[in-house]
Amino acid sequence: MNERQIELVQRSFMRFASCSVNCSTSFFLHVFSFHPELRPLFTGDIERQGIMFMKVVSMAVNSLYDMDSILPALRELGKRHIEYGVQPHHYAAIRESFIWILKRELAEGFTEEVEQAWGCVFDLIAVNMMGNEMEHDKASTSSD
Ligand code: HEM
Repeated sequence: MNERQIELVQRSFMRFASCSVNCSTSFFLHVFSFHPELRPLFTGDIERQGIMFMKVVSMAVNSLYDMDSILPALRELGKRHIEYGVQPHHYAAIRESFIWILKRELAEGFTEEVEQAWGCVFDLIAVNMMGNEMEHDKASTSSD
């Protein structure tokens, strides 16, 4: 990600974060309406789950200039996801709903450029959770 993308993400996250509890619940309802097969993987409270998800997003957004510092945490999170029954193709389903909720909340501020930048953030998180070294090299932060 380049500096402009990081700035776009960090600026838009300030607006997005203010709706976080509501947003994260709508986000999961969206996931389950398009992918009902994922619902049984979740055994806990969805509102709490949404808050935990957004906390990781927030950690990543705040670490975009220093992703290396959070890679071990993302790896561990990814390993736990394997135990939850999560498979690599599930990340695409979550990505779709994540972009949907951002679009809903940021409305006209959600330009194509902002969408792309957020796509990169999600991919950075997902690729590192999945532990794919090659993809990580491609997706890691750079200042060009
Ligand atoms: C950006 C990607 C993701 C992030 C940041 C994320 C974050 C989290 C966090 C923070 C937890 C709390 C438990 C823990 O720390 O181990 C969690 C649990 C969980 N996540 Fe994710 N997750 C992501 C992707 C996914 C995907 C793709 C699935 C597939 C459906 C998924 C399914 C689950 C399940 C089933 C649990 C356990 C819930 C329960 O016990 O009720 N997550 N996730």
